[in-house]
Order: sequence, then C-alpha cells, then structure tokens
Amino acid sequence: MDTALYELNGYNSEGALSPEDLEKLREAAAILRDGGLVAFPTETVYGLGGNALMKDASRRIYAAKGRPSDNPLIVHITEFEDIEPLVSVYSDEARKLAEAFWPGPFTLIMPKSELVPHETTGGLDTVALRMPSHPVARELIRLAGVPVAAPSANTSGRPSTTTAAHCMEDLKGRVEAVVDGGSCTIGLESTIVDVSGEEPVLLRPGAVTREMLREALGRDIAVDPAVKKPLEKDEHPKAPGMKYRHYAPKAPMIIIEAEAGEGADRESRTAERMIELALRERSEGRKLGLIASSEVCGLVLEALSEEGTGAPESRRLGSLHIYDTESMVIMDLGRSTQEKSWAHELFAALREMDEEDVDRILAEGVDENDIGFAVMNRLRKAAGGNVIKA
Ligand code: TXA
Ligand code: MG
Repeated sequence: MDTALYELNGYNSEGALSPEDLEKLREAAAILRDGGLVAFPTETVYGLGGNALMKDASRRIYAAKGRPSDNPLIVHITEFEDIEPLVSVYSDEARKLAEAFWPGPFTLIMPKSELVPHETTGGLDTVALRMPSHPVARELIRLAGVPVAAPSANTSGRPSTTTAAHCMEDLKGRVEAVVDGGSCTIGLESTIVDVSGEEPVLLRPGAVTREMLREALGRDIAVDPAVKKPLEKDEHPKAPGMKYRHYAPKAPMIIIEAEAGEGADRESRTAERMIELALRERSEGRKLGLIASSEVCGLVLEALSEEGTGAPESRRLGSLHIYDTESMVIMDLGRSTQEKSWAHELFAALREMDEEDVDRILAEGVDENDIGFAVMNRLRKAAGGNVIKA
C-alpha cells in the first residue's frame, strides 16, 4: 500500500487552517470515514486513526501496529454532545473531570454503550474517550463525522511518535495516509483516569498532573500500582496496555536515580556515577547512550575532555541537543528543572538511540512532581524497571 503524506502549512493563533490544508484534511477524513487508516497529530503524540464504530477499521489498527487485540483503543471526539451516545453511564464525577480538562491531554474510561464495538475496546465493556485540543486533530475528526479510534501511531512496543517522520518510519506501507502537522507540543501520551468504578483511579500519568486532578476532585486521586513499578507476573494492570513492554529502545536501559536533595550535589553524584559506568562500558568496547539534563551532560562532557577524549561533535535533532563521541552518544533533554522539555524530547531521544545503535543506555531519573511523574513513568517502562542509585 502507498502511504500518502499530507503536509500542512500550520494554523494561525486561533487554530484556523488555510483552505489548502482544509482540502487535504477533507481527503484524509474521507479515508477515515470509509474504514481506512490515517496517522495524525494531537497535542500529546501522533495517533493512528480509524473509524471507531467500524469493527474492521479497529481490526486494521491492531494489524498495522502489530498490537495484541486485547489492548483497547482510545476513542477521540470533538464535542461534549459526542460523549453520551458512546457511554452507558456518565457520572457526575466523570462530567466534572471532562469539563475541567477537555479539550486536552486527558482520557476518561467509562462504561461503553452498545454503539461502540468490542473490537475497539479490546473486548472490554468500558471505553476510553478523549477530546483532543490540537486544531488539526479536531478538524480531521469533525470532517470525518465519526468518532476516531487512535492508539499512539508507533509500532507496538516502540516509543510513541511525536513527528510525522516517526510515523512514516513505523507505518509507511501500512496506513493510507499520514497528516504532517509538525511536532507534538507535549510529547507524552494523555493522562488516563478510570471513572468506571467506585473511585476514580489514575491509570497513566500525563500532562494533566496529579496536582491538577486533586484540584478538580477536591481530594487526592488513587494511583494504579502499575504506574509506579513493574508488575509481578500474577498481577494485572487496569489498563491492559500497561502489561506490555513499552517505549522500549532496542538497547537495555538503566535509570540512575540520586536521592532528592540539593540540586548541584545531586547532579554531580549522578554525573560521577554515569562517568564511572561509561568508562567501564568503553573499556569493554561497548557504545553507550546517555540521556540526561543539561547540567549532568555538562559535567560528563567536562570529565571526558579532562580525560583527553577528543571533542564531541554536537548536533541538533529538533530541539534535542546531541553530542557524539566515538564510544558515546550524549543526549541533553534540557535543564533539570524543565520537565516539560524532558517530556517533549524523551521519545525522540529514545528513537534516536535506536538509530545510533547503542549497546546500553543510561538515563538520569527526574523529580516526580507535576509532569515529572509522567516522565519518570515512561522512563521506568523503557528501562523495564531497571533502576540503580547514584
Ligand atoms: O495521548 C494519547 O492518549 C494518544 C493520542 C493519540 O490520543 N493515544 C494513546 O493511545 O496513547 P494508546 O492506545 O497508545 O494508549 C492507550 C492506553 C493503553 O494502555 C490501553 O490499554 C488503555 O489506554 N486503555 C484504553 N481503553 C481502556 C479501557 N477501556 N480500560 C482500561 N484501559 C484502557
Ligand atoms: Mg501507545
């Protein structure tokens, strides 16, 4: 299958698209309506969209991603009036959260209505709904005139895609079209809250943070145990997707976690530990990848230059800074206090590690405040729970 690439010019500050862009989206929308697949940008990550009400479209999504069919899809809508036809219970608490965070990087799990096929929900009687805020996503769904099922637009197991180029890498030849709307502003998938039970439960952290949820609910939200640690063999996460290997770069990854404390001290301990491990890897002839803050990257580069390693070549990949030396690739995700920049760059960094064919990856742990909680959740999953103390 040929995959069409619809490159858009962008949108103005009010989110309005040009007539040419609208024409391209009309074509993409027709593909969706007729049961075809279209990857498109949202504010979180790119989605691999199909008509959520067509069983065959959902089956095709699973096939294109290589995803197990018991892992349910998120259904994307644009209007509040789209909610009720798709759910059988719309509780007061669900309404409160929807009104607080939609449109935006937020997903609610609710009991599904008859309208939603089990193919879309991975056999479950609940459905995940999200109303994105991205102007391109909204226009595309509106033009399609149907709810759009869309998991992240990556091959199952790989890091989610945050640019159209990533989508082409994973899905070229497997979907009818990719809409290029630039790089996603957030870079991590939506926050998921399950409101189908007695109490709301946070299943996946994202840009809608625990602090924001506390504010909206008037109390702390329960957190599914799968968010904080890898599950034991006999445990079942509430979000079926959480049990699969996720966001995983090809190389094994280890997180270096320093105890919270004074910033500079913490950074120097992390850097020391990274350098120690890096030198060992190098002496054994392995290529190492490093993912860290600007502060830690600076310390590591300084140590390498003192030790007589040739000056690294530096380059940029979007807003990611990369330093290449012969035996090491160092990726600077931004200052340690800028978790938003970490969220934005993390998946691109993990994908670039695959391109660089590194043998091992060391990543710096971050504070779990605000979106840092989501960053750490994805780092832990990418590392398969491998954490060592600095
Ligand atoms: O930001 C996002 O949420 C992106 C964009 C494209 O909207 N989508 C996304 O979808 O991340 P996906 O399929 O990669 O992740 C959805 C997660 C999976 O872990 C899945 O198991 C869980 O949501 N999920 C979906 N429906 C569910 C349900 N009914 N009950 C529990 N978990 C559900
Ligand atoms: Mg995904």
